[in-house]
Amino acid sequence: MCGIIAYAGSRSCTGLLYQGLRKLEYRGYDSAGLSVLVDGSIEVVRAVGNMDSLERELKGNGHADARLGLGHTRWATHGRPSSENAHPHSDCSGKISIVLNGIIENYAGLKEKLAREGHRFTSETDAEVVAHLIEKHYDGDLLEAVRRTYADIAGHFAFCAIHSGHPQMIAGARKECPLLVGVGEEEVFVASAIPAFLSETRDVIVVGDEELFVATPGEVQVLDLGKKRLDREITRVNWDVGAAEKSGYETFMRKEIYEQPDALIDTIAGRMAAPGQVVLEEMLVSDEALAGIDKVYIVACGTSFHAGMVGRYVLEDWARIAVELDIASEFRYREPVLSPSTLVVGISQSGETADTLAAMRQARRMGARVLAITNIMGSQATRDADGVIYTRAGLEIGVAATKTHLAQIAAIQLLALKLAQVRNSLGPDAIGAIAAEMKTIPGLLADYLKNESATHEIAKRYYRQPFFLYLGRGVGLPVCLEGALKLKEISYIPTEAYAAGEMKHGPIALLDKGSPVVVVATDGHVYEKVVSNIEEVRAREAAVIAVATEGNEGIKAYSDDIMYVPRTSEMLSPLVSVVPLQLLAYHIAQLKGCNVDQPRNLAKTVTVE
Ligand code: F6R
Repeated sequence: MCGIIAYAGSRSCTGLLYQGLRKLEYRGYDSAGLSVLVDGSIEVVRAVGNMDSLERELKGNGHADARLGLGHTRWATHGRPSSENAHPHSDCSGKISIVLNGIIENYAGLKEKLAREGHRFTSETDAEVVAHLIEKHYDGDLLEAVRRTYADIAGHFAFCAIHSGHPQMIAGARKECPLLVGVGEEEVFVASAIPAFLSETRDVIVVGDEELFVATPGEVQVLDLGKKRLDREITRVNWDVGAAEKSGYETFMRKEIYEQPDALIDTIAGRMAAPGQVVLEEMLVSDEALAGIDKVYIVACGTSFHAGMVGRYVLEDWARIAVELDIASEFRYREPVLSPSTLVVGISQSGETADTLAAMRQARRMGARVLAITNIMGSQATRDADGVIYTRAGLEIGVAATKTHLAQIAAIQLLALKLAQVRNSLGPDAIGAIAAEMKTIPGLLADYLKNESATHEIAKRYYRQPFFLYLGRGVGLPVCLEGALKLKEISYIPTEAYAAGEMKHGPIALLDKGSPVVVVATDGHVYEKVVSNIEEVRAREAAVIAVATEGNEGIKAYSDDIMYVPRTSEMLSPLVSVVPLQLLAYHIAQLKGCNVDQPRNLAKTVTVE
């Protein structure tokens, strides 16, 4: 979704802002722009389309003297993608420039009132009201104008403003959408995500929810809404700058698929230290409190929801606890039955997904204990939760989630083991054995990825097919749902994913001679049932592409193509069985010439409802 970068310092900033926007591209956008202060006045350059269009607009107009500026990538919500609707937006005088992420819900009324007062609007956006409100409230103090503007607007947003009268200052505020300040040597960056300035500085100050900030090259102040200064420490981020580069891979998605063994190693590291003991430090829920939990409620969206569904199987199996699971956008508008003994687990890679955050807040209001599983330190989800389990997958740039998904599965498996430990549903030996097996999986996966070639060959055979059906049962069901989502989002091929036992209740009607049906048929207690479902598929002369456990020779009799995965115990199998489905989707999308890193219409971080 939208991305913000701002700079104040001693370096020429047009290039820095442009580079920052390039680093934010992964979030998804349909227009981009920047504004810089040159010779006392603000110049704005905007373009529809990708960053190459903005680069063309900037050609021959490098604004070499600019030392203060804002940049923005916009993903249209209010107003179509156009250069007028692209950010930055200006006030009537052109002295003020702003960029905004999120949505101003009361913008229509504000716009009407401001227009009556004589303000002239040049875009269809909700964001432009912020520029005019700052203009209205400005009397020489930019921070105060920001504070008063904040008080006027409703919604969820993060914005930054500059004024030509303050050549070294960026001021802004946030509500629910993230904003981070990067502190350099005599320079300061502000951005909606760390990658935007990671190549320039690793020292970060987080602006908290419902807080204001004012930043100059020498000083960063974070303030509450009454302008009381808050103590904020600088955090040093340890992300690898190379993580934001492709490191020799043709795409970020491929690189991230191949980074999965490391993502698993890091997510597990130190969390199963003593035999039979699971340590989840940031969870901040004592063992006693955890023992009092009688229901787990998982809420998430998209791929994170599929990780949550794996969680349901392992929590029931290992921890013998009741589990409910819901899509966050449904949960938030229902009246779920929660109590202080319910543990609500919000899973969100970004920690910013609007629906998941709203669901978590609702759960907290209803008295439940709330836990976040997220990949982003300091993200909003971590603030809306009582405790956190961080996935340590590192930065994920590809819009289609891969390594963060695997890390989410591992995180919820760790939670299930922890609950099994405090509930005594598994003894220390059983927990130790599962933990020991989990530790072997990164190695198995690394070997698998080194020798993997089957998925490319299979992709070549099927990529022209107009439709794919995915089937799975038990813990293979979330895997097939995820495989189908991956294929549709990056190749635009329609897919249907179903519980294999449900197929005969409807989707079987879709099958025809040669229709590709991807079946997750790894070893487990429902394997024979899955084979029966495969027989039903074959009876319709459809083509079976099976994901099966290494060594299963019998499956050859039932399948047209097989993607073998390493042998694991059943509850851990999603950690390996989802990987060939990621690769199959990847190769099909590549063969079709699709942009796998930035599929159309999708955003990496969905900060709107
Ligand atoms: C698909 C994908 C999305 C996200 C969903 C939730 O590949 O990435 O379905 O999983 O938008 O995002 P997070 O996990 O950031 O809450």
